[in-house]
Amino acid sequence: MEKINVSLGDRSYRIWISGGSLGGLGKRMAELGLSGRAAVVTNRRVAGLYYGVVEKSLRSSGFNPVPVLIGDGERFKSLETMWRLYDRLLGLGIERSTPIVALGGGVVGDVAGFAASTCLRGLPLIQVPTTLLAQVDSSVGGKTGVDHRMGKNLIGAFYQPKLVLVDVDVLRSLTGREFRNGMAEVVKYGAIRDLKFFEYLEGRMENILKLNTADLVKTVGIACATKAGMVSRDERESTGLRALLNFGHTVGHGIEAAMKYRGVKHGEAVAIGMVKAAEISERRGFASELVAGRLSKLLERAGLPTDMPRFDRASLIKALRVDKKIAGGINRMILLERIGKAVFKEVKNINEFI
Ligand code: NAD
Ligand code: GLY
Repeated sequence: MEKINVSLGDRSYRIWISGGSLGGLGKRMAELGLSGRAAVVTNRRVAGLYYGVVEKSLRSSGFNPVPVLIGDGERFKSLETMWRLYDRLLGLGIERSTPIVALGGGVVGDVAGFAASTCLRGLPLIQVPTTLLAQVDSSVGGKTGVDHRMGKNLIGAFYQPKLVLVDVDVLRSLTGREFRNGMAEVVKYGAIRDLKFFEYLEGRMENILKLNTADLVKTVGIACATKAGMVSRDERESTGLRALLNFGHTVGHGIEAAMKYRGVKHGEAVAIGMVKAAEISERRGFASELVAGRLSKLLERAGLPTDMPRFDRASLIKALRVDKKIAGGINRMILLERIGKAVFKEVKNINEFI
């Protein structure tokens, strides 16, 4: 069992990580002083797999759980889903003390988190992430929200959970591609912040891909601890530290947008974006060692793509121009000084990106 603290004063919380921890959810929630009805926001697929265990655990700790289903997939990360969710939650007669449990991947976590932040001006939020991406990234740090037709994640709020409970055993029901999608973010933590972790991944990648529980607990634990440390120091992304988590995302988002979010997963696009950023770091002399080859080798061993897909170059350049990190017409990009150390740099000419 790994226990990680996200230190944010009176909004601090714990991340519990182990194999088989789902059955202990009720106990952990009761320890926080929560009780009564609990709205479990999830989707049909995840509910079919894990709602039973969650329900049993909550009931045995005295809660009265109610499942609240939303649609499955990014297209349901929308204001339409929010309206339906508000109708359902308010229709249940929830009170300000009613916990919202987000049981699912990043879509469920972001939507349920935003509902918790806004409904009755704030309800206790419990994150129970069930994809690797959600376990190492979206459930930690308090970014919640939905997409707008003008872009992803444009409507939302910072709202920290009261508890994050990670059961690595649930990763066994993910498709291989979904699991690898999360591995891109795992490799990212090593690349930007932690050489030792990067070396650990180089040594154990095949064991992690075999879903060995001890390796998974360690991998998810280090990833969460890295993110927790960065969020604790820069919760609102105002000093540039938390923004380093966007390594590989400038080109990654560009690829996703240019491909209209079809045929490529976020982690796959980020893997390609990280290699591109590493190549630019070398080419422009920011990197003190060769970083791109080492990074792409590890990503390839994780089964992730590292080459740019074929598509209209003009649409990529257009997508890069609307990237959120462009300020005053200047593109800010995260580059690697070495494996384990990322830095923010301004790059004036957009063509240098690709
Ligand atoms: P997702 O939530 O769509 O989940 C992927 C698929 O896996 C879905 O079909 C889901 O039903 C299924 N699934 C979930 N858990 C499962 C399990 N244990 N077994 C079998 N199937 C399971 O996608 P995701 O990759 O988890 O999350 C992507 C979302 O996360 C995006 O909307 C992204 O913007 C968001 N995100 C948010 C943050 C943040 O800080 N808030 C960070 C990164 C990503
Ligand atoms: N996923 C980036 C962040 O949480 O800041």
